[in-house]
Amino acid sequence: MELKLSSELAEDLKSAPTPCYVVDERLLIKNLLLLESLRVRTGCKVLLALKAFAAFSLFPLIRNYLDGVAASSLDEARLGREEFAKETHIFSPAYSEREFGQILSLGDHIVFNSFSQWKLFRTSALAMREQKRFAIRVNPEHSEVKTALYDPCAPFSRLGVTRANFEPEQLEGISGLHFHTLCELNSDSLVRTIEAFESKFGEFLPRMEWVNFGGGHHITRPGYAIDLLCSAIDRFKAKYGLEVYLEPGEAVALNCGFLAASVLDIVQNGMNIAILDASAATHMPDVLEMPYRPEIAGAAPPGVLPYTYRLGGPTCLAGDIIGDYSFQEPLSVGSKLVFFDMAHYTMVKNNTFNGVRLPSILVRKKEGGLKMVREFDYEDYLGRLS
Ligand SMILES: Cc1ncc(COP(=O)(O)O)c(C=O)c1O
Repeated sequence: MELKLSSELAEDLKSAPTPCYVVDERLLIKNLLLLESLRVRTGCKVLLALKAFAAFSLFPLIRNYLDGVAASSLDEARLGREEFAKETHIFSPAYSEREFGQILSLGDHIVFNSFSQWKLFRTSALAMREQKRFAIRVNPEHSEVKTALYDPCAPFSRLGVTRANFEPEQLEGISGLHFHTLCELNSDSLVRTIEAFESKFGEFLPRMEWVNFGGGHHITRPGYAIDLLCSAIDRFKAKYGLEVYLEPGEAVALNCGFLAASVLDIVQNGMNIAILDASAATHMPDVLEMPYRPEIAGAAPPGVLPYTYRLGGPTCLAGDIIGDYSFQEPLSVGSKLVFFDMAHYTMVKNNTFNGVRLPSILVRKKEGGLKMVREFDYEDYLGRLS
């Protein structure tokens, strides 16, 4: 069954210059209200993982519902501190000595991926212990993610300290433990992960003040078992008396964005091939990396509707293919296509390979109408090179 746009949204998008991302405030608020209800029900804190979604013109809205941000680099930390201006948590697999001073001044919660990094930076960190809290990321060695690329608990993972490498005698100054093991998963996966976490690291929890259950919780997906998540958090808090943090990225912006594209040309080579002004390689890289097949308004799998096309991007990469889709009417030059669920892991991951320009960013305001918040030009390409 093909997905359709509401007539109001379709009307709004008619005027959008392509290619462009459109983030819909009303859809975002729907997700944020659910995340806020989780905070209210359980007393847990919820952070926005900036790696997934960092459209900062929306931070004034998002900050009304969430506690802060989870950053994974110096620049994300600065964005979070300056533009979100609530709690700033930072985790990186390794901090450089050059950057650590700034990391320390920007973050209020800093998570270390190893005891060697903790020992390297401990003296400067502890000089700030009145204002900052520090944690170790642990690896519960319990895999729930089926794709190795996204499984932080896969064999030989560099992410998090395993129990065998944990150094309890180095915990002075550490007030938290962090794990991140999930990707697009339901709360039963978290429950099993907490069990593994407790069995390996539970003995250290009485010495802690807080834990962070990471991201990968698909909380805003229809069918997500939120009651089970709430009971898992309630039980954990009651047992250990700790603050619980979650740092979802995708769940914050799930199903609230679109990518609008236009057909530039139609060519034939054994089938009809439409070349778009939007590219898988540059504008929706997860289509190739995950990989996955994005939904398009009014389109169905190939052969279902009368007109089938392979959709490709304007780069010279042979594999810049979005997929094969069928449509009720034939496509022609200028036809507009709208891809669903394009807010998360798109704007933060896109690139200017081939000099292809980045899509503009528009916001669909809750009171109606589209607002252009960012347009890109030659200077943005030039600025990345020298
Ligand atoms: C440490 C950490 N926290 C949070 C996230 C956010 O995950 P998601 O966007 O799947 O919720 C990630 C994603 O890779 C991560 O590595």
